[in-house]
Amino acid sequence: MPTVSAPGRVNLIGEHIDYHSLPVLPMAIGQRVTVHFTPIAGPRIEAIGAGGFPPRTFAWSPSIAPYESGDWGNYLKAAAQAVALRWGVRNGIAAEITGNIPPAAGLSSSSALLVAFTLALLEANSIRPTIGELMEILPDGEQYVGTRGGGMDHAISLAGRAGHALEIHFSPFHARPIPIPPAWAFLIAHSLRTAEKSSAVREEYNQRRFAGQRALHQLGFTSYRQNPSPELAAQLTDPLERRCFLHVVTEAARVRQAIAALESQDAPSFARVLNEGHRSLRDQLQVSCPELDRLTESALHAGALGARLTGAGFGGCAIIFTTHDALPAIQQNLIETFYNGDPTRIFPAVPSNGAMAAGTSSPS
Ligand code: GLA
Repeated sequence: MPTVSAPGRVNLIGEHIDYHSLPVLPMAIGQRVTVHFTPIAGPRIEAIGAGGFPPRTFAWSPSIAPYESGDWGNYLKAAAQAVALRWGVRNGIAAEITGNIPPAAGLSSSSALLVAFTLALLEANSIRPTIGELMEILPDGEQYVGTRGGGMDHAISLAGRAGHALEIHFSPFHARPIPIPPAWAFLIAHSLRTAEKSSAVREEYNQRRFAGQRALHQLGFTSYRQNPSPELAAQLTDPLERRCFLHVVTEAARVRQAIAALESQDAPSFARVLNEGHRSLRDQLQVSCPELDRLTESALHAGALGARLTGAGFGGCAIIFTTHDALPAIQQNLIETFYNGDPTRIFPAVPSNGAMAAGTSSPS
């Protein structure tokens, strides 16, 4: 049976700036969503989800009405709708979906489902687009389920490269793989607070996005890519706009510093940038929470070089930077001090191939 799979992601640095079209530095992780499918002759889509998700069947039409809000089948419909808008309605598939990305953890399990199901629909119809073409439909496609982030999650799920982080640019899409130094290692650790996608959290996310945009325009710029200086923040009278502006411009600088540190294998500088990034997300953008703050502090206390929340925030996971040698002791320390002995909420982040990385794009 043909199979397509797409990974989740963890972001190293460049948080809440992809929607301002600024570069980010994520890596794809080993956990994936996998779609096993057989083509159907006709515009019909059938899907069975593993792990208690009820089966979903629908007619593929140019304009598909969504299920109720929160239904997992809306990601399948989002994929079908996005494909239909760009390539028209085609033959459907009967699919079985499995996956091992922890849900509601800020690791992009839903974007991975959208990516994998889109690729399965395309593959079943022998349509083989470029990553750039997919990047034109996928971030907008997710609007179908009510969320509209930036393009980071889809980009890394498509283009991730084993052993590498990706420097991702938007509009136009461009990705540059940067090798992770052999001694460097990362842990993904859950804060024990669910990263909800509730409408309240969505509003918080959008509020920051729009405040950052308003700040930019008030200062007379049309794009953050014009590199406005952080000093201009003093001219902004609205506190939210000032804080969002400061986060965005300093985070953009941190991405550049992190890339330089990664390329020169300078672990102390890379760690410093990560720690500064967490402070900015906590104090300027205010998307952290007490659980994430405590987790990152515990990680540093346990001997990690750096730690920051990863993804949208408001719960979910932290990324912890260490070395391969020190990783087991830090993991064990946190299992005891933060997780009360539960070993399941913290695991190494293994930089992995995206769905369309060289050698992984064709169905097996
Ligand atoms: C969510 C969005 C991404 C990005 C991050 C924050 O994961 O889906 O596009 O904005 O938040 O960096």
